[in-house]
Amino acid sequence: MDDERLVNPNPNEDDQQVEKSLRPRRLVEFIGQEKVVDQLKIAIAAAKGRGEPLDHTLFYGPPGLGKTSLAGVIANEMGVNLKITSGPAIERAGDLAAVLTNLQKDDVLFIDEVHRLNRAVEEVLYPAMEDFALDLIVGKGPSARNLRLNLPRFTVIGATTRLALLTSPLRDRFVSVHRLVFYSDEAMAEIVSRSARILGMPSTDVGSSEIGRRARGTPRIANRLLRRVRDYAQVVADGTIDLEVARAALATLEIDELGLDENDRRLLKAIVELFNGGPVGLSTLAAALAEEVDAIEDVYEPFLLQLGFLQRTPRGRIATRRAYEHLGLMYPERYPGDDPSNPHQSRLW
Ligand SMILES: Nc1ncnc2c1ncn2[C@@H]1O[C@H](COP(=O)(O)OP(=O)(O)OP(=O)(O)O)[C@@H](O)[C@H]1O
Ligand SMILES: [Mg+2]
Repeated sequence: MDDERLVNPNPNEDDQQVEKSLRPRRLVEFIGQEKVVDQLKIAIAAAKGRGEPLDHTLFYGPPGLGKTSLAGVIANEMGVNLKITSGPAIERAGDLAAVLTNLQKDDVLFIDEVHRLNRAVEEVLYPAMEDFALDLIVGKGPSARNLRLNLPRFTVIGATTRLALLTSPLRDRFVSVHRLVFYSDEAMAEIVSRSARILGMPSTDVGSSEIGRRARGTPRIANRLLRRVRDYAQVVADGTIDLEVARAALATLEIDELGLDENDRRLLKAIVELFNGGPVGLSTLAAALAEEVDAIEDVYEPFLLQLGFLQRTPRGRIATRRAYEHLGLMYPERYPGDDPSNPHQSRLW
């Protein structure tokens, strides 16, 4: 996967710099995701009312939608410390024990990519989440004994892009589970306006909403496009990001009306042209595109599925009529997957 790709929802180095200043810090600054925000408001008020830490909370959804931001927002709203770690960063059970014994009462422990914790580490996390206890084995051989250490009450906030990869005992220990969804066009326009304001870039409402509309419902991508459009506005126009400038800049960046880039079009074209519209298996498709299977599943597909350009079937991926139309191609009369001359295709259709 090309990390330089403008519409890749995973963060690059530049993003990490700028994101610090753009991260919403309080719930009122957090735009969109109304369902999640409403539920969090109640949970936070209830926990504060009881003088208890917030229940363990899990966020899942595609990258760049605000999971890390929400963990920070919650810690701020609760008025507690935020400790940040991630599944791959905690290699051994002892590493987690060290993190846990350093927590203060009511702290938020944010575990990013929580599906990547290994089994031994998870075993330590279970009693910590359930009973606020750390089970240690002291000594070796026949004299070894179990020691239970009490921890202060705290909150685990987990984040994952792959809910299905979470073990069920771990999932069950999260009291509330929230799915983040792609943002609406209205929310995206507001996010771009807010970012432009913070970064001191003059922009018009229609200019902001044009950038937002083409950012795949993903704030991280919107912020990245905004910076590139700003460069264009400075060099080619008078510095203001208006509709005309936004359109012209996005055209030079080869981001189309719907926010698809050259790589998305290449994927759709491959299904249409090399595999007759599909179905084509994920690994076959990845090989044809010289891409990683994970990159296709995590980066390309969520948005193409959301647009209804792609369908996942048990036999593989299918390009839909809408995809053909967007590419300006004729949709074949016969269903593309329904090819009776091909003995490898089942008769399901
Ligand atoms: N609701 C929002 N309002 C305004 N800006 C937002 C919002 N959500 C996210 N952002 C912006 O998008 C950036 C990326 O968000 P964040 O890092 O929280 O995403 P994430 O879901 O944790 O991504 P990843 O899965 O890659 O870790 C933030 O720095 C922030 O600038
Ligand atoms: Mg994150």
